[in-house]
Amino acid sequence: MERRKIQAQGPELSRIVAGAWRWHTISPENVERLINVALEHGITSFDHADIYGDHGNEELFGRVISKNPSVRNKIELITKCDIKFPSTKRPATWVKHYDTSKSHIVWSAENSLKTLNTDRIDLLLIHRPDPLMNPQEVAEAFDQLRNQGKVLHFGVSNFTPSQFRMLQKHLSFPLVTNQIEISLSRIDPFFNGDLDLMLELEVSPMAWSPLAGGKLMAEEREVFGTATKYSATYSQLALAWLLKHPSNIFPVVGTTQPERIIEAAKSVEVNLDRQDWFEMLKWVSGHDVA
Ligand SMILES: NC(=O)c1ccc[n+]([C@@H]2O[C@H](COP(=O)([O-])OP(=O)(O)OC[C@H]3O[C@@H](n4cnc5c(N)ncnc54)[C@H](OP(=O)(O)O)[C@@H]3O)[C@@H](O)[C@H]2O)c1
Repeated sequence: MERRKIQAQGPELSRIVAGAWRWHTISPENVERLINVALEHGITSFDHADIYGDHGNEELFGRVISKNPSVRNKIELITKCDIKFPSTKRPATWVKHYDTSKSHIVWSAENSLKTLNTDRIDLLLIHRPDPLMNPQEVAEAFDQLRNQGKVLHFGVSNFTPSQFRMLQKHLSFPLVTNQIEISLSRIDPFFNGDLDLMLELEVSPMAWSPLAGGKLMAEEREVFGTATKYSATYSQLALAWLLKHPSNIFPVVGTTQPERIIEAAKSVEVNLDRQDWFEMLKWVSGHDVA
Protein backbone atom coordinates (compact mmCIF):
# COMPACT_ATOMS: atom_id res chain seq x y z
CA MET A 1 0.00 0.00 0.00
CA GLU A 2 1.27 3.40 -0.97
CA ARG A 3 1.90 5.77 1.94
CA ARG A 4 2.15 9.49 1.56
CA LYS A 5 2.33 12.66 3.61
CA ILE A 6 -1.01 14.39 3.35
CA GLN A 7 0.82 17.73 3.52
CA ALA A 8 4.55 18.48 3.80
CA GLN A 9 4.31 19.07 7.57
CA GLY A 10 1.41 16.66 8.04
CA PRO A 11 1.15 12.98 8.95
CA GLU A 12 2.02 10.13 6.62
CA LEU A 13 -1.13 8.13 5.95
CA SER A 14 -2.02 5.05 3.96
CA ARG A 15 -3.40 6.19 0.61
CA ILE A 16 -6.64 4.34 1.31
CA VAL A 17 -8.16 5.26 4.67
CA ALA A 18 -10.76 3.15 6.49
CA GLY A 19 -13.79 5.08 7.75
CA ALA A 20 -15.63 4.07 10.92
CA TRP A 21 -18.99 5.77 10.27
CA ARG A 22 -20.90 2.51 9.70
CA TRP A 23 -19.09 0.30 12.20
CA HIS A 24 -21.92 0.24 14.76
CA THR A 25 -23.84 -1.90 12.23
CA ILE A 26 -21.47 -4.85 12.79
CA SER A 27 -20.44 -6.77 15.89
CA PRO A 28 -17.40 -5.74 17.98
CA GLU A 29 -15.72 -8.99 16.85
CA ASN A 30 -16.19 -8.01 13.23
CA VAL A 31 -14.85 -4.51 13.93
CA GLU A 32 -11.71 -6.13 15.29
CA ARG A 33 -11.51 -8.38 12.24
CA LEU A 34 -11.96 -5.41 9.91
CA ILE A 35 -9.14 -3.51 11.63
CA ASN A 36 -6.81 -6.50 11.47
CA VAL A 37 -7.55 -7.20 7.80
CA ALA A 38 -7.04 -3.51 6.99
CA LEU A 39 -3.65 -3.56 8.73
CA GLU A 40 -2.63 -6.77 6.97
CA HIS A 41 -3.25 -5.00 3.66
CA GLY A 42 -1.45 -1.78 4.54
CA ILE A 43 -4.46 0.36 5.45
CA THR A 44 -3.19 1.93 8.67
CA SER A 45 -5.20 5.16 8.78
CA PHE A 46 -8.65 5.19 10.38
CA ASP A 47 -11.21 7.95 10.10
CA HIS A 48 -13.53 8.56 13.03
CA ALA A 49 -15.76 11.29 14.37
CA ASP A 50 -16.95 11.87 17.92
CA ILE A 51 -20.57 11.40 16.73
CA TYR A 52 -20.29 8.19 14.68
CA GLY A 53 -22.58 5.43 15.89
CA ASP A 54 -24.34 7.91 18.20
CA HIS A 55 -21.03 8.68 19.93
CA GLY A 56 -20.16 4.98 20.18
CA ASN A 57 -17.83 4.02 17.33
CA GLU A 58 -14.65 5.54 18.73
CA GLU A 59 -15.18 3.35 21.77
CA LEU A 60 -15.49 0.23 19.57
CA PHE A 61 -12.05 1.08 18.23
CA GLY A 62 -10.70 1.93 21.68
CA ARG A 63 -11.62 -1.55 22.91
CA VAL A 64 -9.49 -3.11 20.17
CA ILE A 65 -6.56 -0.93 21.24
CA SER A 66 -7.01 -1.83 24.89
CA LYS A 67 -7.03 -5.54 23.98
CA ASN A 68 -3.89 -5.17 21.91
CA PRO A 69 -2.02 -1.95 22.82
CA SER A 70 0.74 -2.59 20.25
CA VAL A 71 -1.82 -1.74 17.54
CA ARG A 72 -1.63 1.95 18.45
CA ASN A 73 1.90 2.44 17.12
CA LYS A 74 0.99 0.86 13.80
CA ILE A 75 -1.88 3.21 12.96
CA GLU A 76 -2.89 6.81 12.42
CA LEU A 77 -6.08 8.01 14.10
CA ILE A 78 -8.17 10.74 12.55
CA THR A 79 -11.23 12.10 14.32
CA LYS A 80 -13.55 15.09 14.11
CA CYS A 81 -15.46 17.48 16.31
CA ASP A 82 -18.06 20.26 16.26
CA ILE A 83 -21.34 18.52 15.32
CA LYS A 84 -23.80 18.24 18.21
CA PHE A 85 -27.20 16.59 18.00
CA PRO A 86 -29.90 15.55 20.45
CA SER A 87 -29.06 12.14 21.92
CA THR A 88 -29.64 10.38 25.21
CA LYS A 89 -25.85 10.50 25.51
CA ARG A 90 -25.89 14.31 25.21
CA PRO A 91 -28.91 15.42 27.27
CA ALA A 92 -27.90 19.11 27.20
CA THR A 93 -28.32 19.31 23.39
CA TRP A 94 -31.85 20.03 22.14
CA VAL A 95 -31.14 21.08 18.56
CA LYS A 96 -28.63 19.90 15.98
CA HIS A 97 -25.90 22.51 15.72
CA TYR A 98 -22.17 23.11 15.33
CA ASP A 99 -19.88 24.17 18.16
CA THR A 100 -16.40 25.45 17.40
CA SER A 101 -15.96 27.21 20.74
CA LYS A 102 -12.53 26.70 22.30
CA SER A 103 -14.05 24.85 25.25
CA HIS A 104 -15.97 22.39 23.06
CA ILE A 105 -13.06 21.63 20.70
CA VAL A 106 -10.75 20.95 23.65
CA TRP A 107 -13.40 18.93 25.51
CA SER A 108 -14.28 16.90 22.40
CA ALA A 109 -10.65 16.08 21.55
CA GLU A 110 -9.94 15.07 25.16
CA ASN A 111 -13.07 12.92 25.15
CA SER A 112 -11.96 11.25 21.89
CA LEU A 113 -8.59 10.47 23.51
CA LYS A 114 -10.47 8.61 26.24
CA THR A 115 -12.92 6.77 23.98
CA LEU A 116 -10.23 5.80 21.47
CA ASN A 117 -8.03 4.73 24.38
CA THR A 118 -5.01 6.63 23.13
CA ASP A 119 -2.68 9.39 24.29
CA ARG A 120 -2.70 11.21 20.96
CA ILE A 121 -4.86 11.93 17.95
CA ASP A 122 -2.86 12.09 14.73
CA LEU A 123 -5.30 14.38 12.95
CA LEU A 124 -8.29 16.33 14.28
CA LEU A 125 -10.78 17.83 11.82
CA ILE A 126 -13.48 20.45 12.26
CA HIS A 127 -16.32 18.31 10.89
CA ARG A 128 -18.54 21.00 9.34
CA PRO A 129 -18.10 24.74 8.84
CA ASP A 130 -19.82 26.55 11.72
CA PRO A 131 -21.54 29.84 10.82
CA LEU A 132 -20.67 31.08 14.31
CA MET A 133 -17.02 30.03 14.07
CA ASN A 134 -14.57 32.48 15.63
CA PRO A 135 -11.26 31.51 13.98
CA GLN A 136 -9.25 33.04 16.82
CA GLU A 137 -10.94 30.69 19.30
CA VAL A 138 -10.32 27.71 17.04
CA ALA A 139 -6.65 28.73 16.82
CA GLU A 140 -6.43 28.91 20.62
CA ALA A 141 -8.00 25.45 20.96
CA PHE A 142 -5.67 23.97 18.34
CA ASP A 143 -2.60 25.60 19.93
CA GLN A 144 -3.48 24.24 23.35
CA LEU A 145 -4.09 20.68 22.10
CA ARG A 146 -0.94 20.79 19.97
CA ASN A 147 1.29 22.18 22.74
CA GLN A 148 0.06 19.45 25.08
CA GLY A 149 0.85 16.77 22.47
CA LYS A 150 -2.77 15.61 22.51
CA VAL A 151 -3.36 16.33 18.81
CA LEU A 152 -0.48 16.22 16.35
CA HIS A 153 -2.13 17.73 13.23
CA PHE A 154 -5.28 19.63 12.30
CA GLY A 155 -7.56 19.91 9.30
CA VAL A 156 -11.13 20.62 8.31
CA SER A 157 -13.98 18.90 6.55
CA ASN A 158 -16.67 20.18 4.19
CA PHE A 159 -15.08 23.65 4.10
CA THR A 160 -15.36 25.89 1.04
CA PRO A 161 -12.09 27.35 -0.26
CA SER A 162 -12.86 30.73 1.35
CA GLN A 163 -13.63 29.11 4.71
CA PHE A 164 -10.38 27.11 4.47
CA ARG A 165 -8.30 30.22 3.71
CA MET A 166 -10.01 32.22 6.43
CA LEU A 167 -9.23 29.67 9.15
CA GLN A 168 -5.72 29.08 7.83
CA LYS A 169 -4.98 32.80 8.14
CA HIS A 170 -5.45 32.56 11.92
CA LEU A 171 -3.20 29.53 12.44
CA SER A 172 0.57 29.44 12.90
CA PHE A 173 0.81 25.99 11.26
CA PRO A 174 -0.82 24.54 8.15
CA LEU A 175 -4.16 22.81 7.99
CA VAL A 176 -3.22 19.47 6.45
CA THR A 177 -6.45 18.49 4.69
CA ASN A 178 -10.02 19.29 3.76
CA GLN A 179 -12.14 16.12 3.89
CA ILE A 180 -14.91 16.57 1.34
CA GLU A 181 -17.34 14.42 -0.59
CA ILE A 182 -15.75 13.42 -3.90
CA SER A 183 -16.75 10.53 -6.13
CA LEU A 184 -17.98 9.71 -9.60
CA SER A 185 -21.37 10.76 -8.20
CA ARG A 186 -19.99 14.00 -6.74
CA ILE A 187 -17.75 15.56 -9.36
CA ASP A 188 -18.21 19.27 -8.45
CA PRO A 189 -14.90 19.49 -6.52
CA PHE A 190 -13.03 18.94 -9.79
CA PHE A 191 -14.58 22.10 -11.20
CA ASN A 192 -15.70 24.38 -8.35
CA GLY A 193 -12.29 25.37 -6.97
CA ASP A 194 -12.18 22.87 -4.07
CA LEU A 195 -9.38 20.79 -5.61
CA ASP A 196 -7.70 23.87 -7.16
CA LEU A 197 -7.15 25.23 -3.66
CA MET A 198 -5.69 21.94 -2.49
CA LEU A 199 -3.23 22.00 -5.41
CA GLU A 200 -2.40 25.65 -4.82
CA LEU A 201 -1.63 25.10 -1.12
CA GLU A 202 -0.10 21.64 -1.65
CA VAL A 203 -2.57 20.11 0.75
CA SER A 204 -4.10 16.74 -0.12
CA PRO A 205 -7.86 16.33 0.19
CA MET A 206 -9.58 13.33 1.72
CA ALA A 207 -12.63 12.00 -0.16
CA TRP A 208 -15.59 10.84 1.93
CA SER A 209 -18.16 8.47 0.45
CA PRO A 210 -15.80 7.75 -2.47
CA LEU A 211 -18.20 5.04 -3.68
CA ALA A 212 -21.26 7.25 -3.05
CA GLY A 213 -22.19 5.03 -0.14
CA GLY A 214 -22.37 1.98 -2.46
CA LYS A 215 -24.86 3.61 -4.86
CA LEU A 216 -22.24 3.86 -7.58
CA MET A 217 -21.88 0.14 -7.98
CA ALA A 218 -25.64 -0.36 -7.85
CA GLU A 219 -26.76 2.42 -10.19
CA GLU A 220 -23.93 3.55 -12.45
CA ARG A 221 -22.77 0.33 -13.98
CA GLU A 222 -22.17 1.72 -17.48
CA VAL A 223 -19.37 3.88 -16.17
CA PHE A 224 -17.32 0.81 -15.39
CA GLY A 225 -17.06 -0.39 -18.99
CA THR A 226 -13.26 -0.51 -18.80
CA ALA A 227 -13.20 -2.78 -15.73
CA THR A 228 -12.15 -5.87 -17.73
CA LYS A 229 -9.34 -3.95 -19.43
CA TYR A 230 -7.80 -3.26 -16.01
CA SER A 231 -8.82 -6.61 -14.46
CA ALA A 232 -10.39 -4.44 -11.80
CA THR A 233 -13.67 -4.51 -9.92
CA TYR A 234 -16.11 -1.61 -10.19
CA SER A 235 -15.19 -0.25 -6.79
CA GLN A 236 -11.47 -0.45 -7.60
CA LEU A 237 -12.09 1.53 -10.77
CA ALA A 238 -14.12 4.15 -8.88
CA LEU A 239 -11.28 4.57 -6.35
CA ALA A 240 -8.59 4.55 -9.08
CA TRP A 241 -10.50 7.40 -10.75
CA LEU A 242 -10.02 9.50 -7.60
CA LEU A 243 -6.41 8.38 -7.07
CA LYS A 244 -5.50 9.64 -10.55
CA HIS A 245 -6.03 13.30 -9.59
CA PRO A 246 -2.76 15.24 -9.01
CA SER A 247 -3.95 16.62 -5.66
CA ASN A 248 -3.33 13.11 -4.24
CA ILE A 249 -6.82 12.42 -2.96
CA PHE A 250 -6.98 10.05 0.03
CA PRO A 251 -10.25 8.08 -0.37
CA VAL A 252 -11.95 7.18 2.92
CA VAL A 253 -13.71 3.89 2.29
CA GLY A 254 -16.68 2.96 4.44
CA THR A 255 -17.14 -0.76 3.92
CA THR A 256 -17.84 -3.00 6.89
CA GLN A 257 -16.75 -6.14 5.02
CA PRO A 258 -13.15 -7.41 5.27
CA GLU A 259 -13.15 -8.73 1.65
CA ARG A 260 -14.11 -5.29 0.42
CA ILE A 261 -11.35 -3.64 2.48
CA ILE A 262 -8.89 -5.91 0.65
CA GLU A 263 -10.54 -4.99 -2.66
CA ALA A 264 -10.17 -1.28 -1.85
CA ALA A 265 -6.52 -1.70 -0.84
CA LYS A 266 -5.76 -3.17 -4.26
CA SER A 267 -7.23 -0.15 -6.07
CA VAL A 268 -3.90 1.66 -5.68
CA GLU A 269 -2.46 -0.78 -8.22
CA VAL A 270 -4.86 0.40 -10.97
CA ASN A 271 -3.32 3.17 -13.05
CA LEU A 272 -6.06 4.61 -15.22
CA ASP A 273 -5.25 5.86 -18.68
CA ARG A 274 -6.09 9.56 -19.20
CA GLN A 275 -8.65 8.76 -21.90
CA ASP A 276 -10.35 6.14 -19.75
CA TRP A 277 -10.51 8.76 -16.97
CA PHE A 278 -12.26 11.17 -19.32
CA GLU A 279 -14.54 8.44 -20.61
CA MET A 280 -15.70 7.77 -17.05
CA LEU A 281 -16.23 11.50 -16.56
CA LYS A 282 -18.29 11.50 -19.73
CA TRP A 283 -20.48 8.70 -18.42
CA VAL A 284 -21.28 10.47 -15.17
CA SER A 285 -21.62 14.00 -16.59
CA GLY A 286 -23.62 12.83 -19.60
CA HIS A 287 -21.52 14.71 -22.13
CA ASP A 288 -18.09 15.13 -23.68
CA VAL A 289 -15.87 17.89 -22.32
CA ALA A 290 -16.14 21.05 -24.41
N1 LIG B 1 -16.48 14.32 6.77
C1 LIG B 1 -17.74 14.02 6.57
O1 LIG B 1 -18.64 14.87 6.61
C2 LIG B 1 -18.10 12.61 6.25
C3 LIG B 1 -19.40 12.28 5.83
C4 LIG B 1 -19.66 10.94 5.53
C5 LIG B 1 -18.66 9.96 5.66
N2 LIG B 1 -17.42 10.33 6.10
C6 LIG B 1 -16.32 9.34 6.21
O2 LIG B 1 -16.23 8.65 4.99
C7 LIG B 1 -16.27 7.26 5.24
C8 LIG B 1 -16.82 6.55 4.06
O3 LIG B 1 -18.18 6.94 3.81
P1 LIG B 1 -19.18 5.88 3.15
O4 LIG B 1 -19.34 4.74 4.07
O5 LIG B 1 -20.37 6.60 2.69
O6 LIG B 1 -18.23 5.43 1.93
P2 LIG B 1 -18.36 4.52 0.67
O7 LIG B 1 -17.12 3.70 0.65
O8 LIG B 1 -18.71 5.38 -0.49
O9 LIG B 1 -19.61 3.59 0.92
C9 LIG B 1 -19.56 2.46 1.76
C10 LIG B 1 -20.90 1.75 1.62
O10 LIG B 1 -20.97 1.18 0.30
C11 LIG B 1 -21.33 -0.19 0.43
N3 LIG B 1 -20.75 -0.94 -0.70
C12 LIG B 1 -21.45 -1.55 -1.68
N4 LIG B 1 -20.64 -2.16 -2.56
C13 LIG B 1 -19.37 -1.94 -2.13
C14 LIG B 1 -18.09 -2.34 -2.61
N5 LIG B 1 -17.95 -3.09 -3.71
N6 LIG B 1 -17.01 -1.96 -1.94
C15 LIG B 1 -17.14 -1.20 -0.84
N7 LIG B 1 -18.33 -0.79 -0.29
C16 LIG B 1 -19.44 -1.16 -0.96
C17 LIG B 1 -20.77 -0.60 1.77
O11 LIG B 1 -21.50 -1.75 2.21
P3 LIG B 1 -20.70 -2.90 3.04
O12 LIG B 1 -20.39 -2.31 4.37
O13 LIG B 1 -21.72 -3.98 3.12
O14 LIG B 1 -19.50 -3.26 2.24
C18 LIG B 1 -21.09 0.64 2.61
O15 LIG B 1 -22.44 0.63 3.04
C19 LIG B 1 -17.08 7.13 6.54
O16 LIG B 1 -16.82 5.92 7.21
C20 LIG B 1 -16.55 8.31 7.31
O17 LIG B 1 -15.31 7.97 7.90
C21 LIG B 1 -17.13 11.62 6.38
